[in-house]
Amino acid sequence: MKASACGKIILFGEHSVVYGQPAIAVPVSGLRIYANISKGKGKIYDPPMGEVIDMADRKNPLAMAAWLAMEKAGKAGADFDIRISGDIPPYSGLGSGAAVCVAIMRAVGMWAGREFSPEELAGMSYETEKVFHGNPSGIDNTVVSYEEPVYFVRGKPIEMLRIGKPFTIVIGDTGVKGSTKEMVAHVGKLLKESPDKYNAIMGHMGEIANSAREIIEGDSPAKLGPLMDENQELLRELGVSHKSLERLIAAAKQAGALGAKLAGGGGGGNMIALANDAMPVEAALLNAGAKRVFTTMVGK
Ligand code: PMV
Repeated sequence: MKASACGKIILFGEHSVVYGQPAIAVPVSGLRIYANISKGKGKIYDPPMGEVIDMADRKNPLAMAAWLAMEKAGKAGADFDIRISGDIPPYSGLGSGAAVCVAIMRAVGMWAGREFSPEELAGMSYETEKVFHGNPSGIDNTVVSYEEPVYFVRGKPIEMLRIGKPFTIVIGDTGVKGSTKEMVAHVGKLLKESPDKYNAIMGHMGEIANSAREIIEGDSPAKLGPLMDENQELLRELGVSHKSLERLIAAAKQAGALGAKLAGGGGGGNMIALANDAMPVEAALLNAGAKRVFTTMVGK
């Protein structure tokens, strides 16, 4: 039996979302993690990470995903093995941590004859996100569990976003590993040192997310471009961008992208560009050293 979960991109509001500002994230259904479950002895094989995990290891987030799902399904005893595969690289800002855990939970649910609701999955995967990130806002596990565009405010009921008119996003992978945990800790330090300055930046990012929501629900998504650029400028000020990201962002813009920014924790990982015409942007990204490009249509 095989279950899966999607990747995600944060269009607006990474980092500020940790501090209660709104953010917008969308699923990337074409990029997925798979969890294959079969009779076994309680092991999780994770070739993308080169790991074999014992489900008894309660500190491991993947093992935790499995036993949280077992508990929820009322199933005693791990009489199964799980094999992970898929095409969301870890440490890349595409939500691989949340996706692997949600895929595992769905697989365990199947094994136990129980289909979890998105709400149940989001609740369980928030617990595993804490192990991955330390201080997660909850946006990743929410968008991955619901596989719907979301307007997300930490601690508030989730709101689904209606996409007024579909738009094209090109995703470019720098190939540089970015640690979300480190980036979130870095931003936390800045806020402690200069609260006025950095709280103002957070507030500004929140305003951008609110403006973006109106545009997304309207019928002129091209207007998102300048907001992406503005959001990226603020992310630069937080020090979470990276030269590899800047190189791809500049290349995308030169090739006609309407706006571009990093997506996720930063420090490497993926960038996103809004494009009228995806092909020249994809070519420019590859030319500028992107390890992989992927185009997704938001709202289709
Ligand atoms: O790097 P990712 O895909 O895990 O995204 C992290 C988003 C942050 O806002 C930086 C952290 C969070 O918990 O929301």
